[in-house]
Amino acid sequence: MQNRYLIISAAVGLLFAGAVVGYAIPVEKQEVPARVILDNTGGRVVFAHRVHAEDYGSACEDCHHDGVEGEAYLPCGACHPAEFDETFRTNHQKAFPDQKACLRCHDEVPSGPLAEDARPDIESIPTRGEAFHTQCMGCHEENGGPFGDDACYQCHAR
Ligand code: HEC
Ligand code: HEC
Ligand code: HEC
Ligand code: HEC
Ligand code: HEC
Repeated sequence: MQNRYLIISAAVGLLFAGAVVGYAIPVEKQEVPARVILDNTGGRVVFAHRVHAEDYGSACEDCHHDGVEGEAYLPCGACHPAEFDETFRTNHQKAFPDQKACLRCHDEVPSGPLAEDARPDIESIPTRGEAFHTQCMGCHEENGGPFGDDACYQCHAR
């Protein structure tokens, strides 16, 4: 049992170190991942990242709208969490390499608890599942690629 926790902690540590290094690399030097594996309750999705970026004619910014010029792209989940709950509130303040990213959602960079009327409008920020489905299928509907009620298993593993 204890061993498992150790392995999990080590894995999390490595991921975190990777993320920090990732943030330090400017966009032009960032490696385009060949594949991105997205685990989720609908069944794992293996996203052919390089094929999309190189063969399907999509620009980086079509999908990555992080909004901080010159910075490495962030994982979508930094801004699109499963839920805007307590975990998001505590973690997201450290999730961004640059304070300019805060302005994507906040009017100014906040440092403490927020008054009710200073809170970002979470109705306009899609959660993780919505963000992916909207982006993946929105483009497919216009440009080809799987979308719609019968297409689930063209993206999700059974
Ligand atoms: C069709 C959409 C799409 C295009 C086009 C695209 N990406 Fe991505 N990219 C993604 C998705 C989705 C992820 C996974 C993000 C996640 O795990 O939350 C990702 C992840 C990444 C990551 C890893 C970031 C991280 O820490 O998770 C990098 C780096 C990256 N992309 C760079 C690029 C570059 C550079 C280009 C242009 C040459 C590009 N991408 C084009 C959708 C795209
Ligand atoms: C730095 C924060 C940030 C990151 C990182 C981010 N988003 Fe967003 N996204 C937002 C915000 C804020 C909105 C709400 C509307 C707006 O301000 O554009 C949004 C809106 C959206 C929307 C709905 C509006 C639209 O553009 O169609 C989709 C879909 C979306 N994001 C998908 C993604 C995906 C997929 C990724 C990763 C490849 C990603 N986002 C990364 C902040 C972010
Ligand atoms: C993807 C949008 C988004 C980004 C980017 C973002 N925030 Fe937030 N922030 C939120 C939301 C949503 C809340 C919580 C609103 C609620 O509780 O209803 C919040 C709340 C906060 C709070 C108040 C916490 C509390 O409990 O009162 C602080 C402080 C804060 N953010 C700081 C930051 C800082 C600093 C950055 C940049 C480093 C940042 N945020 C970037 C969306 C964002
Ligand atoms: C900006 C546009 C765009 C976005 C965003 C996009 N795709 Fe695609 N996708 C395409 C195009 C174009 C094709 C090729 C259609 C064809 O040639 O038949 C495609 C094809 C596919 C295919 C079938 C062929 C293959 O390569 O396996 C899958 C699966 C797929 N996309 C998954 C995804 C997933 C998952 C996402 C979101 C993480 C996504 N796509 C986001 C444009 C996009
Ligand atoms: C174009 C590819 C694509 C298609 C088609 C697609 N999905 Fe997804 N789905 C994704 C991606 C990408 C994610 C996000 C993975 C992540 O959170 O890392 C996702 C997430 C999910 C999730 C977990 C998040 C949530 O909102 O609960 C469920 C459940 C899901 N999909 C069900 C479905 C069902 C049911 C269908 C068919 C009606 C479908 N998906 C069609 C790509 C697709």
